[in-house]
Amino acid sequence: MALDPLAAVAAIRTRTAANPSVAIVLGSGLGRLADDVMHATRIPYAGIPGWDRSTAPGHSGELVVGTLSGKTVAVMKGRLHYYEGYDMPAVVFPIRVCKAWGIDTVILTNACGGLNPKFKPGDLMLLEDHINFMPANPLRGPNDERLGPRFPDMVGTYTEELRATAKSVDPDLREGIYVAVSGPNFETPAELRMLRGLGADAVGMSTVPEVIAARHLGMRVLAIATVTDMATGIPGQIEHVSGEQVIEVAERAGARLGALIKGVVAKL
Ligand code: HPA
Repeated sequence: MALDPLAAVAAIRTRTAANPSVAIVLGSGLGRLADDVMHATRIPYAGIPGWDRSTAPGHSGELVVGTLSGKTVAVMKGRLHYYEGYDMPAVVFPIRVCKAWGIDTVILTNACGGLNPKFKPGDLMLLEDHINFMPANPLRGPNDERLGPRFPDMVGTYTEELRATAKSVDPDLREGIYVAVSGPNFETPAELRMLRGLGADAVGMSTVPEVIAARHLGMRVLAIATVTDMATGIPGQIEHVSGEQVIEVAERAGARLGALIKGVVAKL
């Protein structure tokens, strides 16, 4: 099926007249914030043409539109991942729909493994930059010049002003570089040491495709990673990690993340 963001917006408008200014993407185990949205209209992804359903555990697949910290927001409770088998245009379709709907700021969250030995599980890390280590790019193929340039500049992708706002709300935030891998297996210790050697502080299986699409569209981007496990690959410190552990730790960090996002949205 051809992916048409305007058709998706038309379907959303049959359910709500709201015009959100911010989109918030909630990652693994981080969906609780959606319950704090007031006067909420909940639209299952299945009701939006072109919008695929998330199959990942801890991702419940609905768009929650309403008020958070006094602002009109669109919260995506659950995202689509490349590892689920979706191709990149499907993974970033929700971002393109948000832009077509008039949203110009996106806040992305995820669960990640900590590569920086100073981190610990439960830490929140602002993304200051990323390394795209996924085997595909959402901008591959014909470029629609009306949406953005063929060769987007990636310098300053993570909006400085939004990061400063986040740090003013939660001064204990970590900041670092996120490397995106395709998954779904967690990395081998050798891969983790390599990723650390490349300069990354955290590793995960999401976010970067959406960030690339948002940048192409000229949107303002804030991204916050929840460190759910230490993934240093250092001999003597190697731990097993499971999907269940990731969700459990992310859920525990969810209250702090929720407070941070509400604080940031209030200041937008
Ligand atoms: N690796 C990749 N993705 C992840 C991890 C990890 O250790 N933890 C949570 N998401």
